[in-house]
Amino acid sequence: MAWYKVADAANLSTSFLMKVTAGGKQLCLVKADEKLYAVSATCPHAGADLSKGRCEEGKLVCPFHRYKYNLSTGRGDLGQNDFIRTYAVEQRDDGIYVEIKSFFENFRNRF
Ligand code: FES
Repeated sequence: MAWYKVADAANLSTSFLMKVTAGGKQLCLVKADEKLYAVSATCPHAGADLSKGRCEEGKLVCPFHRYKYNLSTGRGDLGQNDFIRTYAVEQRDDGIYVEIKSFFENFRNRF
């Protein structure tokens, strides 16, 4: 596993939703209700860029068809039967870091 710096500490004072790259992956970095989240940036429904969506009551709302994904668990709303990946995110003195696990680490954790 590896931690990647994705934003400077200067971004920490307000709520935001932005697209970042870490370990070759496109992610949404979100600060909402004083909490940080990192989730995949591609909507599983039809591929929209979720960083162009909005946050609403702990969920990320897709800009295309308004599917909703829980920012903590990645689960889609009831009836969607889909999810987005979530990533560990940490605020450190010099910025925000996201943990990206290798394919094998993710595979091993499933069994
Ligand atoms: S592309 Fe996201 S809900 Fe359809």
